[in-house]
Amino acid sequence: MRKTIVIVGASRGIGRELVKILSQDKNNLIFALARNTKSLEDFNQLENVQIHPFDLNTDSVRVSGEKIFQNISSIDILINNAGKLVNKPFLELSKEDLEESYQVNVIGVMETVQAAIPKMIETGGHIVNISSMGGFQGTVKFAGLSAYSTSKAAVASFTELLAEEYKDTKIKVNCLCLGSAQTEMLEEAFPGFQAPVSAHQMASYIADFSLNAHQWMHGRIIPVSLTTP
Ligand SMILES: NC(=O)c1ccc[n+]([C@@H]2O[C@H](COP(=O)([O-])OP(=O)(O)OC[C@H]3O[C@@H](n4cnc5c(N)ncnc54)[C@H](OP(=O)(O)O)[C@@H]3O)[C@@H](O)[C@H]2O)c1
Repeated sequence: MRKTIVIVGASRGIGRELVKILSQDKNNLIFALARNTKSLEDFNQLENVQIHPFDLNTDSVRVSGEKIFQNISSIDILINNAGKLVNKPFLELSKEDLEESYQVNVIGVMETVQAAIPKMIETGGHIVNISSMGGFQGTVKFAGLSAYSTSKAAVASFTELLAEEYKDTKIKVNCLCLGSAQTEMLEEAFPGFQAPVSAHQMASYIADFSLNAHQWMHGRIIPVSLTTP
């Protein structure tokens, strides 16, 4: 069955792999969103991928989303994969660091969902929010990640609240708290660190989850990690 899938943060890392994996099924129509449209241009050779510039760090995320979605009759899957990681000692975090982390990782995600819900409400859809193990209660925490990990905890909480508000509809929402995956973000934040999984492996799991998990779960916050706890 034809599925319309929106992937936010599609220009590199896990999001880029998600586009490659989910576009293999030619029935799927993929909307690949990110700021760096130059990187997205590679996808122009795939007939079932549309690329759109999209910046979560603005005051007009909802309006931008609504414009991108205006010609789509329905959205089946929205993957809120984009993320911003600031790694700085707590006292060195500027107001801008804090605001940008929350704008991209929380407010932008919520406004993207506001833009997408009208396209999901009749036919149903799966919203998958990508959080982090750092935002999962009780896990090992890392110094320098207070802006990032608290914002990822907020995304997890948002998932539960959205699930409650939409529990009597066909919209399902879940949150994946990822452990480390080998991407540009990880390399920039922790140079030399070797993650146990590649961006492609993590994207394979997320792709399968996005296509199927809404049949079995709603409002769940799921740790996806090989490490303990
Ligand atoms: N890699 C890990 O180990 C790991 C672990 C836990 C959780 N995660 C989470 O997994 C997700 C993907 O991570 P990744 O490692 O693949 O990160 P990445 O390599 O840094 O890619 C992040 C993506 O988000 C997009 N993005 C960043 N700021 C944006 C903005 N203002 N507006 C729109 N898009 C924006 C980037 O595109 P543009 O720059 O082109 O906009 C890029 O496509 C993130 O939410 C991250 O927090 C990753």
